[in-house]
Amino acid sequence: MQNEKIKEVFEFPCGLNIENRIVLAPMSTDSGTEKGGLSTEDVDFILKRSEGFGMVILGSHSVSPSGNAFKRGWNIYNPANAPILTKLVEKLHEKNVKVVIQIYHAGRLAQPAFIEGKQPIAPSRIPANRKFASYPRDMTEIEIQQTIKDFRVACEIAMEIGFDGVELHGANTYLLQQFYSAHSNRRQDRWGGSRTKRMTFLIEVVDACIKAIKEKAKRPFLLGYRFSPEELETPGIRMADTKILLTELTKLPLDYVHISLSNYQKKSQEGLNIIEELNQVIPPSIPFIGCGNIQTPKEVKEISEMVSLFSVGNATLSDPLWAKKILQGNHDIKTSMGMKDQKSLAIPLPLWKSMLKAPLVFFKEDLAKEAKK
Ligand SMILES: Cc1cc2nc3c(=O)[nH]c(=O)nc-3n(C[C@H](O)[C@H](O)[C@H](O)COP(=O)(O)O)c2cc1C
Repeated sequence: MQNEKIKEVFEFPCGLNIENRIVLAPMSTDSGTEKGGLSTEDVDFILKRSEGFGMVILGSHSVSPSGNAFKRGWNIYNPANAPILTKLVEKLHEKNVKVVIQIYHAGRLAQPAFIEGKQPIAPSRIPANRKFASYPRDMTEIEIQQTIKDFRVACEIAMEIGFDGVELHGANTYLLQQFYSAHSNRRQDRWGGSRTKRMTFLIEVVDACIKAIKEKAKRPFLLGYRFSPEELETPGIRMADTKILLTELTKLPLDYVHISLSNYQKKSQEGLNIIEELNQVIPPSIPFIGCGNIQTPKEVKEISEMVSLFSVGNATLSDPLWAKKILQGNHDIKTSMGMKDQKSLAIPLPLWKSMLKAPLVFFKEDLAKEAKK
């Protein structure tokens, strides 16, 4: 099944063009250097998977030392990490692939061990519903203002390094989402209370980045926003909240909104197709990046009829040439991998080890072969 639409050049509102409509989804590897830079294994992992993509989004980079969610996570605030990022951007540009860096603050999902033994900071003193969670402390007014500044500075660093844009990580229950969620935000000041007040922090972060780009960008520079449409907690974010969030966000000069979803066909808690529902509130002037378990040419066709662009992560783990094959109409896509394939697939060891904990997800074929012996 050839699919011509996905091969079209795409222009974002800021004027930046990408070669086609396939985006490499942000993937953190938890394999960075001591200083929070990309390791050489990380660089190999990204370069090997970048073939054929119009745009690559680098996985989450923390904007401040209090924002790290991983032991070997990446950050953008340490100047020591700029040279390797510069090199990676140059290499991707040589291949005509545009590159965006995702920036985040983990808020209550930061673990003391990864933030110099300190207590995580969050909108309110409510722990996340996770095994590893600890009690965060309420952010002070000064810390809130500083974190908005940290996002702005991260945006400026990304421009200096030569990135084509930044993606604000407002998904996966990190700090930006924590301010919007009535579960994690119980504040009574101007940052909490009504939906509008809970939205204030993320809108101020977006505004600060827009300002930075207006003042400092020497060429078209993207600003994207990633969001998760629903939470399981009660109270928590529901589709009605997300529709309001997107209605407000898309009034701002964003270049795209990017959903974080495990399956592009996923239904909301009310039983409606999430992407189709959100299409009703996202104006056509703001590109919508779809996502979630897109593997086969049939799935590519379906998602490309729903949204302007789509991102793909997992499919590239077992087949790093996934995008190239899809563009060429080559259906010989590898959907599983063997337990001995770590090096040939250029998957950093810490990420590989976490994949080994879910063998039925990643190593189906290998296990089936073993079972037949
Ligand atoms: C190893 C791995 C790391 C990920 N890291 C990030 C991340 O840093 N930021 C993010 O927004 N999503 C992250 N994700 C989620 C993906 O971007 C994507 O939304 C998800 O995997 C669903 O799409 P897929 O089925 O095409 O992989 C990660 C996914 C994987 C598999």
